[in-house]
Amino acid sequence: MNVIELIDFEHQLIAQTLTVAQACARRLAQPGGGTEPDGQELIGFLDKFISQCHQAKEYHLFLCLLHKGVPAVIAPIAKFHEEHRRFAQMTESLGSSWWLVTEGQAGAGELVAGYLTDYAALMQAHIQREECFYRVTLSCLDADDHLYLKSMFDKLEQEMLGIDGHTRHCQWAHQAAGRQTEEHRTGDASQAWAARTQPPQAFTQAVLPIAPERSHSALEPATGSSG
Ligand SMILES: [Fe+2]
Ligand SMILES: [Fe+2]
Repeated sequence: MNVIELIDFEHQLIAQTLTVAQACARRLAQPGGGTEPDGQELIGFLDKFISQCHQAKEYHLFLCLLHKGVPAVIAPIAKFHEEHRRFAQMTESLGSSWWLVTEGQAGAGELVAGYLTDYAALMQAHIQREECFYRVTLSCLDADDHLYLKSMFDKLEQEMLGIDGHTRHCQWAHQAAGRQTEEHRTGDASQAWAARTQPPQAFTQAVLPIAPERSHSALEPATGSSG
């Protein structure tokens, strides 16, 4: 796969998790919605996989495209960059508010449901715009660019998600989306939750809990290698 195909693969995975986010939002918005089994893991995915890894990869892709001469004036890179920051802020708000849900605070479910709904809508539009942009700019990248970017992607996965972390996040997303599909098919949430399998322990340890005070700036990861 070239780097655009790798990004496409992650977009498909992210799109799957957005259906999970929307289903979580629907349940949380119901009166007495109670707890949400996938909620904390979902927020961990938004933080680790999307903000810290996927969007950091895209930052390097943007830089490479600018370096190859894609005009900064007409390219929507600044807009994408701005939206990445917005996603990081939304994820931080979700992480902070999630504790209110777990503590049973009145109104917390509706608050988190609103964040999840807004996040899903913005991310769907963001992915659509990025995919159009990448299609147009793919021809600007040569074999060396793909090799360089692939090495950066591998490095980011190791640094942000840990050994096998990318695979574990992909597995969780597939499982969560599968449970959502089953719930939709049967119309019975209890069956879907009964069939729910716990995520790998290593995944849980890797992504939970989110420290509310930590920076989530997608374009300013801890390494300082991307902004
Ligand atoms: Fe993006
Ligand atoms: Fe993206």
